[in-house]
Amino acid sequence: MEIYFAPMEGMTPPLLRSLHNEFFGGCDKYFTPFISTNENYSLNQKEKKEIDPECNKGLNLVPQIISNSAEQSAGYILDISEKYGYKEININMGCPSGTVVSKNKGSGMLKDKQFLKAYLDELFSRLYEQKERAVPDISIKTRIGFYSEDEHVELTELFLAHPVKQIIIHPRSRTRMYEGSTNMEAFSYMYDALKGAGIGVVYNGDIKTPEDYAKIADRYPDLDGVMIGRGLLRDPSLARRIKGGKCVDNEEYLKYMEALLDGYMQQIGIDNFVLAKMKDTWSFSAQAFSGNDKGRKEMNKADSVESYRVCMRQFIRNSKLL
Ligand SMILES: Cc1cc2nc3c(=O)[nH]c(=O)nc-3n(C[C@H](O)[C@H](O)[C@H](O)COP(=O)(O)O)c2cc1C
Repeated sequence: MEIYFAPMEGMTPPLLRSLHNEFFGGCDKYFTPFISTNENYSLNQKEKKEIDPECNKGLNLVPQIISNSAEQSAGYILDISEKYGYKEININMGCPSGTVVSKNKGSGMLKDKQFLKAYLDELFSRLYEQKERAVPDISIKTRIGFYSEDEHVELTELFLAHPVKQIIIHPRSRTRMYEGSTNMEAFSYMYDALKGAGIGVVYNGDIKTPEDYAKIADRYPDLDGVMIGRGLLRDPSLARRIKGGKCVDNEEYLKYMEALLDGYMQQIGIDNFVLAKMKDTWSFSAQAFSGNDKGRKEMNKADSVESYRVCMRQFIRNSKLL
């Protein structure tokens, strides 16, 4: 069973992905945060870096797009896979953010099933009508409904009717955002129906420990894999541990975070912006540490990269990890 590092906009840029792979490994695939399609079929500088193999050395990377247009999606999928050599492109149908959903993108695609059907019909006919161009595998990252989790039955029917390679399922409706428990009954239904039809299935949601992983792996032995987001920001050694490797210790965590700080400094070069990036990362990472609230407050107060580095060292060395 494979382990995928989930895409997290703002949290998992090429720098973090590459450092994670170098320091800890254990992930079979990394996904880019979503790239929004547009009518000019253009990528901005940040988007180019997200997918440029030069910025993602050593990673098995899957670019992710987000769109409400089948025409634009087909264009991006063919262009990106051809230009950069990707064999798989992922489509985001899970993002719950209000600004995304209001444009019928992300989980907004799940709102109107007629719209979703028309999108999938047009997407695959556009992809396969291009006889002279190679079509990459299409995977979809989805929730189990927009308004209600009962929608999973209708969504499954729609996915079954199209040549999707793999479905990554976050078993919550959009309404639930990331709150409450995941709906394993709905997930089981989708797993049975999709796997039965030869479509790959990946589970995503709330895996924070090797024990959480084992529960899923035992219950669904034919899963293609699990995708982990917040759990890997908190414990970057989680995938390694699941595969039998060692748990991160304080010194290894520190080296990883210092490499991230140095990398951001090299790329961005302005203290305030670097600190903002580090603080975002720490909003998830700090959950791995306990017993040092004072140290955490000091880190948050640091107003230069150098004072941040000193506070971060003290915090990591003087806190209980995991
Ligand atoms: C800050 C943040 C940004 C995210 N950005 C993306 C994204 O760009 N694309 C995507 O498919 N999912 C995105 N997600 C969802 C995650 O990939 C993942 O599905 C979610 O965190 C649940 O998995 P977890 O419980 O393992 O964290 C994001 C989640 C968070 C919290």
